[in-house]
Amino acid sequence: MSFNEFTNTLIERRSAKSYIPNRQVPEEILQAVLTAGQYAPSSMNQQNRFFTVIQDAALIKEISDKTLQMMEESGLTPSRPNMPFYLAPIVIVCSAPKDAKFGHDDVACSIMNMQHSAHSYGLGSCYIGIALGIFDSEIQKKFQLPEGYEPVACVTLGYEQDAPAPAKARRTDNICYLR
Ligand SMILES: Cc1cc2nc3c(=O)[nH]c(=O)nc-3n(C[C@H](O)[C@H](O)[C@H](O)COP(=O)(O)O)c2cc1C
Repeated sequence: MSFNEFTNTLIERRSAKSYIPNRQVPEEILQAVLTAGQYAPSSMNQQNRFFTVIQDAALIKEISDKTLQMMEESGLTPSRPNMPFYLAPIVIVCSAPKDAKFGHDDVACSIMNMQHSAHSYGLGSCYIGIALGIFDSEIQKKFQLPEGYEPVACVTLGYEQDAPAPAKARRTDNICYLR
């Protein structure tokens, strides 16, 4: 089956799990990626989402170390080098208001727009769920998350160090046609 170019871009995106640490993303590309995120659909167009774009390597190391510590305390062994953020030069913490019924959905829609936009610019990205548990009120304050918001996921962004792994097989048993 053949698909159009846009659909092929969606199919070709992979989660990037290694980055060139010190190669920053040009500002205009970062802005394009963030704009793609802002134009994602949201429940009743409430856009219940907030993005904290971290490009300070020391701050990224701080949340990385905390996540590794949390993993260790939970008996989780890192399964790849440089987890959880894979030395990405950008980590975006994506938050939603705690009381918004569809806040997490609004965030997830933005993350996918950002990942696909990133891919179209030749950047790697990865949806990172594992770091969530570290965001206690002290960290939330230090990282300037708005009052009443909670992190939903993080996204790594940057230029990939290694070629991406081939796509893992996709399910074929989860579509039902009623025609
Ligand atoms: C909700 C969610 C949470 C995820 N959390 C992590 C994570 O913490 N660390 C990680 O390396 N990848 C994480 N991923 C990325 C998945 O590993 C990846 O999407 C999946 O293996 C399919 O690979 P692909 O994105 O290359 O198609 C997450 C993806 C989703 C959707």
